[in-house]
Amino acid sequence: MNNFLLRRITIDDVSALSAIAKKTFFDAFSGTCTPADMSHFLDLYYTENTLAKEIADTEMQYYFAEVNGQIAGYILYKENNLNFAETKSKKTIELKRLYVLGNYHGKKIAQKMMAHFLDYAAKNNFEMAFLGVWEYNCRARYFYSKFGFLPTKYRHNFPIGNTPQTDLYLIKDLLVM
Ligand SMILES: CC(C)(COP(=O)(O)OP(=O)(O)OC[C@H]1O[C@@H](n2cnc3c(N)ncnc32)[C@H](O)[C@@H]1OP(=O)(O)O)[C@@H](O)C(=O)NCCC(=O)NCCS
Repeated sequence: MNNFLLRRITIDDVSALSAIAKKTFFDAFSGTCTPADMSHFLDLYYTENTLAKEIADTEMQYYFAEVNGQIAGYILYKENNLNFAETKSKKTIELKRLYVLGNYHGKKIAQKMMAHFLDYAAKNNFEMAFLGVWEYNCRARYFYSKFGFLPTKYRHNFPIGNTPQTDLYLIKDLLVM
């Protein structure tokens, strides 16, 4: 892929982040809930005000993936604790969001973003990575499995508005090659 760049998102990018966050979430999940639920969710989590607060939080690591100067996706990760038997005594990092625009799926953009995340985790001595993924998001689950994320018995509610949904927790032991 030509001219691939990952760059830290700044407050100047908040409008672009809001646009891609809304579009990628809508594209991924609009068929799984009512239009009203989707609209409510996008307004709750992806407005510029909300995202500006997250960008200002230096613990939130937000990056754009750009291809030939065009935004192709974004990633968000953060050090976080998870009180599960497998993780609670470990230094853990959460992959909170990984979203790529549809025309860049299957083009190794997401791989490069994941490689960046894993590189950051290794350089900063994290021992375990975790993430939540919708139980029926088969493409994402297969993608994560390719990087060694394993399913756990743990799950949590992730409703979109009034539509109940369940996310599965996946974990990756970063000390195992
Ligand atoms: C999840 C995401 C980042 C992965 O990036 P990607 O470029 O699509 O990933 P890849 O194409 O490398 O890998 C996906 C794999 O799933 C396979 N796949 C596609 N549809 C599938 C399905 N319904 N069930 C199982 N596997 C599927 C693909 O063929 C591919 O396998 P391959 O590498 O053997 O060809 C991207 O699809 C995305 O942004 N999706 C929408 C947002 C999202 O769901 N984010 C994750 C939230 S937790």
